[in-house]
Amino acid sequence: MKIDPKIFEGFSRVLTGVVVPRPIALVSTKSADGIVNLAPFSFFNAVAYDPPTIIFSSSRRTGEEGEKTKDTLANIEATGEFVIAVVVDEIAEAMNRTAAEYPADVNEFEIAGLTEATADIVAPPLVADSPVNMECRLVQVVTIGDPEHGHGLVIGEIVRMHVRDDIINGHRIDHSKLKPTGRLAGNMYCYTTDTYEMVRPKYDASKGIPISH
Ligand SMILES: Cc1cc2nc3c(=O)[nH]c(=O)nc-3n(C[C@H](O)[C@H](O)[C@H](O)COP(=O)(O)O)c2cc1C
Repeated sequence: MKIDPKIFEGFSRVLTGVVVPRPIALVSTKSADGIVNLAPFSFFNAVAYDPPTIIFSSSRRTGEEGEKTKDTLANIEATGEFVIAVVVDEIAEAMNRTAAEYPADVNEFEIAGLTEATADIVAPPLVADSPVNMECRLVQVVTIGDPEHGHGLVIGEIVRMHVRDDIINGHRIDHSKLKPTGRLAGNMYCYTTDTYEMVRPKYDASKGIPISH
């Protein structure tokens, strides 16, 4: 089957069905009035080491008629700060409870039964229940597609990272303890506990072939 994204109805579901599994960012923000907001985003990745840079992408509009800007995007554009907590199996159901379209004055930490912790540098709170929190400053919001109804690609620099002591050994994160949740399409998720190792080959110029070691 060949698909032309411009004419294939529901192409977004195909796209999110094949770029899988995706990690999930639980993004904490604070409005200019100090109202805390929490919502999940799986268009999420790390994209550079120096400066340490992460991205996530939010559709701009929500509501029946697309009449409202998503709180996360509005808050980040107003304040330039956010915290990303990594979603792990222990908090996957709580994460899901934060995802409904609540009014802007609702604090989703309370709805989800998650606990706020004070960040070191930025104003939005950490998610104390997640083993990994990244305090971020906004670098840029890149508009993708229609400025009113397209996506805002949020680029952020990590200014402080919090990693629970039991999941890190030196530089190495123990994924059997982290248990990051994977997002598939729609309402489907996966565990990441079935892991294996594959050593990257080195190219040997004298032999002209890749060699494993
Ligand atoms: C697992 C999961 C992943 C999601 N990923 C995204 C995403 O990448 N981009 C997006 O715009 N919405 C995404 N959503 C939907 C938002 O979380 C939802 O629209 C939320 O109400 C936005 O909240 P806000 O208005 O407080 O920002 C996702 C929802 C779930 C459950």
